[in-house]
Amino acid sequence: MLIYPIIGLAPIDGVTDAVFRQIVDECSHPGVLYTEFIPVNGLVLGKPAITKMLLRHQTKTPIFAQLLGNETDNFYNAAMIVLNAGFDGIDINMGCLDNNIVKRGMGAALILQPKLAQAIIKTVKKAVSDWGKRSVPVSVKTRTGYDKPITTEWIRRLLAAGPDIITLHGRTYVQKYAGKADWEEIAKAAAIVRRTKTKFFGNGDIKSMEEAKKKITDYQIDGVLIGRSVFGNPWFFSGHSPTPKEKIKILYRHCQLFNHYFPAGDFRSLRKHFVWYVKSLSHAADLKNRLMKTENLEDVRKILKN
Ligand SMILES: Cc1cc2nc3c(=O)[nH]c(=O)nc-3n(C[C@H](O)[C@H](O)[C@H](O)COP(=O)(O)O)c2cc1C
Repeated sequence: MLIYPIIGLAPIDGVTDAVFRQIVDECSHPGVLYTEFIPVNGLVLGKPAITKMLLRHQTKTPIFAQLLGNETDNFYNAAMIVLNAGFDGIDINMGCLDNNIVKRGMGAALILQPKLAQAIIKTVKKAVSDWGKRSVPVSVKTRTGYDKPITTEWIRRLLAAGPDIITLHGRTYVQKYAGKADWEEIAKAAAIVRRTKTKFFGNGDIKSMEEAKKKITDYQIDGVLIGRSVFGNPWFFSGHSPTPKEKIKILYRHCQLFNHYFPAGDFRSLRKHFVWYVKSLSHAADLKNRLMKTENLEDVRKILKN
């Protein structure tokens, strides 16, 4: 169950997999967790690499599955799969930047196709209602515009399809991650959404729990999502400052959970996490270099033992 106001973990492709979500949940219990984007076409075809994205830990913390695509039939069928897998919410990706995805009319390209965007929201809502076992919120995560901010117009279009939650990252598609997130655009959206039943989360550049709480109060919003500030810092949501020992311990726990969820997984995919976990440690460079060569849990154990 979502308890407002929410301070949650944003969806991050290549990062918020089952392993990292469990780590963050164990360390600091955010208000909500999101999966990475899950392509609906791969999910309905039952592709093993995509189906694996539905792995999850058992927790009371709500987990939203984020779906990516541009075909309503696939969204309907993918939503049914996600509902049967027990997720607590379905988020629709309308902000992804990846060139391959945008070229194919998905992610942020949906900002240019408002009628299709509305049809997708309505389709997912219909899937939840047809499924009928419990009420599951349908949300949209998006940006302020494609090549320039069109926040007011875009948010009104989304609201017309009745999503339960909208999350707005305060940048356009062409801006990618440049400059600062524009919280004045977020304020504009918040003022419109506040007059409806839809809940509203702001997103972009939040660095601490104090800042998260201040944004919620200052902008009178229902919550915020945090992405990059949680890299290497799964304690973010508790405000705890980890000791070097705790960082090493969590790095090892991350590797153990990786083996648990993905027994045949490639350890190289953990390298970014190694860099983030060790970056502030006194012997960071040497430790990082040695961790980069690891291929399995035993290699990591030997390095951390010393
Ligand atoms: C490496 C990376 C991957 C991302 N993957 C996704 C994704 O799968 N779905 C999504 O909606 N947003 C994705 N985002 C955007 C984040 O959810 C978030 O909107 C953005 O990072 C701004 O928040 P922050 O400043 O707190 O990081 C990604 C961002 C980064 C940096």
